Amino acid sequence: MGVRLGSGVMDVLINVFVGLHIIGIASLLGGFLTQMKAMGEGTARFTPAMLHGALTMLVTGVALVGLNQADDHAVNNVKIAVKMAVLIVILALVYVKRDEESIDKSMFGAVGALTTTNVFIAVLWT
Ligand code: HEM
Repeated sequence: MGVRLGSGVMDVLINVFVGLHIIGIASLLGGFLTQMKAMGEGTARFTPAMLHGALTMLVTGVALVGLNQADDHAVNNVKIAVKMAVLIVILALVYVKRDEESIDKSMFGAVGALTTTNVFIAVLWT
């Protein structure tokens, strides 16, 4: 019984972090989508929402791995490693170029494509 109560609390905590993880995607991908027109004109930029969304993905993602392991849920390490590698590239690009007033179309597009890639890795790789 005690174990059941304990895992219930952990489930809520894990779900809270999944919610924060989704807020992170919203910030990162939203920052991209709202600038697709500007991207076509070569005037898009990496906004603070995109940088903070990318950071949120890393922090909540790592927390989710830890929480799932603490709760004895199997974590797909290969899937997580791939998602983490993709996110590190996103984060590096957005961080290094955060003060540039306009970002080349191809680089801005790459961040959108990599973010979308991670969404589909998350939902399709089971
Ligand atoms: C742009 C980057 C990322 C995107 C778009 C993304 C997307 C998602 C989505 C949509 C989910 C919910 C669906 C599911 O449970 O599979 C999810 C869950 C998860 N993500 Fe991410 N993710 C990203 C980065 C990361 C990173 C860097 C890590 C780890 C370091 C991570 C770890 C996890 C874990 C452990 C779950 C599973 C939660 C559970 O099964 O309870 N994610 N991610």
